[in-house]
Amino acid sequence: MAERGGEPGASALLELAVEIAEEAGAMLLAKRPARPEVLATKSSPTDVVTALDRAAEELIRARVGQARPYDAILGEEGGDTPGEGSVRWIVDPIDGTVNFLYGLPDWAVSIGVEVDGEIVAGVVNNVPRGELFTAHRGGGAWLAGERLRCNTGVPLDRALVSTGFGYGADRRRVQAEVLAQVLPRVRDIRRGGSAAIDMCAVAAGRVDAYYERGPNYWDFAAAGLIAVEAGARFGGLHGKPASPGLTMCAAPGLFEDLHDLLATLDPERG
Ligand code: IPD
Ligand code: CA
Repeated sequence: MAERGGEPGASALLELAVEIAEEAGAMLLAKRPARPEVLATKSSPTDVVTALDRAAEELIRARVGQARPYDAILGEEGGDTPGEGSVRWIVDPIDGTVNFLYGLPDWAVSIGVEVDGEIVAGVVNNVPRGELFTAHRGGGAWLAGERLRCNTGVPLDRALVSTGFGYGADRRRVQAEVLAQVLPRVRDIRRGGSAAIDMCAVAAGRVDAYYERGPNYWDFAAAGLIAVEAGARFGGLHGKPASPGLTMCAAPGLFEDLHDLLATLDPERG
């Protein structure tokens, strides 16, 4: 076990994150009923939480606590638990909860690990598809033993672009207006239902770009690193870091072209 204040390596943190994301994924797969029950709603009636979102986060918190009791944890369901060292775990126990609810095969356990405020390791475990995306800073992005590289040299009008929508009606109205301007200017749009998996899809070259107003830090902490390690640029509007205001990723070149289009549409309103 690492000592309090010790400086763990990114690859050791990734190894632990993978172990925990696999265990949480296996639990979710084993316990997922045919029709999971909605336990509560959060920001809107469509923003749901199931008992298994909470159970998976509890499992992840318990495993992190056993292995590294001094680390901080930020989780979607359990909030911020301060620690005493330089390491913080950023956890989304299920990204793509609506897909999980409906039995659609794209939801993931997402775990990012910060050291001194910078994400150094990330794992996105797309459980139903058995796909584990990983990266540690400077070590590349990986899926099933293959190094990932995002697509390069794609002009905006040939780009397959994924996006997502928030849970609030007013925000969705704005997102629809923005989308109406983006759709005629790109190859096509995909809406997969998990921001983390969308960004891993950029890393794997399955789509060319991703943008969204609204994703939270736990949605993009791990997947942003995976996209960057696959060669993508990852950030927000006007040089700002990725944030709920706007998060986007794509290869350099396409990133700027999509950014400049979005910048004219004021996507952060709403
Ligand atoms: C949501 C998904 C969705 C995105 C939303 C997120 P959740 O996360 O990532 O694709 O469009 O912005 O809130 O609620 O399934 O954890
Ligand atoms: Ca979630």
